Amino acid sequence: MRKILVTSALPYANGSIHLGHLVEYIQTDIWVRYHRMINSEVYYICADDTHGTPVMLRAEKENISPEQLVENVHKEHSKDFLDFNVSFDCFYSTHSDENKKLSESIYKSLVKSNKISKKEIEQFYDSQKKMFLPDRFIIGDCPKCRAKDQYGDGCEKCGAIYNPTDLINPISALSKTKPERKKTDHYFFKLSECSDFLEKWTTSGVLQVEASNKLKEWFKSGLEDWDISRDAPYFGFEIPDAPGKFFYVWLDAPIGYMASFKKFTDNNSLSFEEFWDKKSEAELIHFIGKDILYFHALFWPATLEYSNYRKPTKIFAHGFLTVNGEKMSKSRGTFITARSYLDEVKNTDYLRYYYASKLSESMEDIDLNLDDFVSKVNSDLVGKFINIPSRTSGFLSKYFENKLTNKSDISKDNGIEILDKILQSESSIIELYEKRQFSKLTRFLMSHVEELNEFINNKAPWVIAKEENQSLINSDLHQVCSLCIKSFRVLSIYLTPIVPELSTNISSFFGEEVYASFSRAQDDILIIKSYEHLLKRLEKDDVDSMVSANLNN
Ligand code: 2FM
Ligand code: ZN
Repeated sequence: MRKILVTSALPYANGSIHLGHLVEYIQTDIWVRYHRMINSEVYYICADDTHGTPVMLRAEKENISPEQLVENVHKEHSKDFLDFNVSFDCFYSTHSDENKKLSESIYKSLVKSNKISKKEIEQFYDSQKKMFLPDRFIIGDCPKCRAKDQYGDGCEKCGAIYNPTDLINPISALSKTKPERKKTDHYFFKLSECSDFLEKWTTSGVLQVEASNKLKEWFKSGLEDWDISRDAPYFGFEIPDAPGKFFYVWLDAPIGYMASFKKFTDNNSLSFEEFWDKKSEAELIHFIGKDILYFHALFWPATLEYSNYRKPTKIFAHGFLTVNGEKMSKSRGTFITARSYLDEVKNTDYLRYYYASKLSESMEDIDLNLDDFVSKVNSDLVGKFINIPSRTSGFLSKYFENKLTNKSDISKDNGIEILDKILQSESSIIELYEKRQFSKLTRFLMSHVEELNEFINNKAPWVIAKEENQSLINSDLHQVCSLCIKSFRVLSIYLTPIVPELSTNISSFFGEEVYASFSRAQDDILIIKSYEHLLKRLEKDDVDSMVSANLNN
């Protein structure tokens, strides 16, 4: 049996979950649920990414402690994920004892491996706020194109990347005063010494081809040592034997994957080591956005390698979300929070299905076109899929007391080959799930749904019902409707990882437990409950209200 530890990137604790984040959580959740359904031993781990200057400053603005802010946001995020049926086994926090201990011990191992150095650097300092300024908190004119109001790490106009000290007329975004240059000691991870190891590791099949090509560019320009410390005041973990110096948030954030799993294994009497030992045979899979590839494909494996832990088995990077073909925008109301979706649209299976219908194994961006969202959900899920029971189950109730024929009694003429074909396609379905080819998968499942709808059109059970002698238990009407309902059930089982809530409602329609394994597709079901509508149409008005709720939020 495969043992798999799966992670999604940790959301920052200084903002709300939005539909852009959900691309990743939904993609990962579908993959994890699929693994549960083929009986892998799989654990899905995540946490809030709590440290750093933005959290510290937001807490200050709200007049609360960073600890309080982190706790409030954790409650909000946990509820959002729960309501979107993102099925974490543990959603923890990087501001935890487990993470502190692990971060300290990993750092000490890196020191022992001679991978940490100390250097004096010069940085901008805000003497009014009495703090060193992160790149994003310094604004000035681009040294290359002279565009005004650019951040310290790069120009949004011309795309130039530079150091904050290169900015012309730099200003602190916090106090609006001119920052001064000040010297300070920083700790560095000697990434430049890890090139050989990393070039080998990143070309060993752990990355998608596009990702591995991106990395080749980085190797070409040479790896620089990585600054892993920040000066006080900073919300984070203080570095052992370095008073006033803190771990940079990106040092302890990925260690948060381990810490969250540690919390989970401690609570459930499982072995942490079995998954993290250097010799572990379990798989470690990270789902991430393409923007954080550098951290996960370079810093993270190097950190693990030189602190004697196992490295990831695969890194699956996905693209960004655009809404109506453009970058999400607050002024257009397309920076859509998870909560506003839950309040206005409510049913999360719609979005899960839509994202699945767009997602592939590539790093390409995906677009949420709001009109297309409404029409696709209504056409595929309501118009085609749910149409199967809504067109056939009534006859089973009216003439056959909700009983179905045995599968073995359905003749070729009454469609048994359709059901057999669906059951035989299980291995193709599994392959598409495994490879994260969800868009192909939904099309494949919909092709079976379409075939069933055509079969219903051709057979026209409403015509048979008029013509047939209804006392015949084994009549054509009974077989045709039973075939449709049995096939619908099997397709529902295969769709469960994508639309778990709908699948739960469908399992109650059959008087069954939730579908926890694909093997349930083999059961022959002989009874249904009387049909009540299983899914309502998605209303464009609800989508419009959601957008309005996000206008200039
Ligand atoms: O980019 C982000 O949103 C980060 N908070 C992701 C961290 S993932 C992990 F490495 F901790
Ligand atoms: Zn520029």
